[in-house]
Amino acid sequence: MSKFITFEGVDGAGKSTHLAWFAEALRQRGLDVVVTREPGGTPLGEQLREILLHQPMSIGTETLLMFAARLEHVEQVIKPALGAGKWVISDRFSDASFAYQGGGRGMDWDKLRQLEQWVHPDLQPDLTLFFDVPVEVARKRLRMSDRAGTNNTSLDRFEQEQSDFFERVRAGYHKRVQQNPHRYVVIDAAQSLETVKDKLQEVISAI
Ligand code: TMP
Repeated sequence: MSKFITFEGVDGAGKSTHLAWFAEALRQRGLDVVVTREPGGTPLGEQLREILLHQPMSIGTETLLMFAARLEHVEQVIKPALGAGKWVISDRFSDASFAYQGGGRGMDWDKLRQLEQWVHPDLQPDLTLFFDVPVEVARKRLRMSDRAGTNNTSLDRFEQEQSDFFERVRAGYHKRVQQNPHRYVVIDAAQSLETVKDKLQEVISAI
């Protein structure tokens, strides 16, 4: 039986490192796993990602491009893979639009709901792992990462935002979790890598 699992969190929460390990652990159990990401996941989506991460634009344009890339991703990758019985793990999905465009940038929550309804009316993740971490911890990790270490200009448009932006993003995620708690596992990502891995192992056993 296929499952659609998403990984979410503010930049620097460490979700991408854990995603690779999680996918491998599922494969070792004999599952056919597709790993993908947003924005991106299709050739067009990856082009939109480049634009989204590096070109200045209005909040509305940013929101619409995120959902345009998502529509392509849902139709070209996610639904076909689930239809073929595969497990799909996506590094971000619509929760990120609510958190970043809604929480971070102040885009109207109802407009985001309308876009969500339009783009994937009959699809939601079966499970979302939300890597929750205090913003100052995430900022520190981002600064210490290789990409950010030498020169701040290698950070993308989102990563260059200030702490107050990420506080609003984090609050946006919390609001989403509160609105639909049964879909999420909230992971305290400030803990050590080993402790987070143990938690992921528990999640895998449960599903
Ligand atoms: P990544 O660094 O996790 O790959 O994500 C790229 C950036 O895109 C990240 O800073 C969050 C942002 N983003 C949004 O603002 N809205 C969205 O809907 C998605 C999917 C990502």
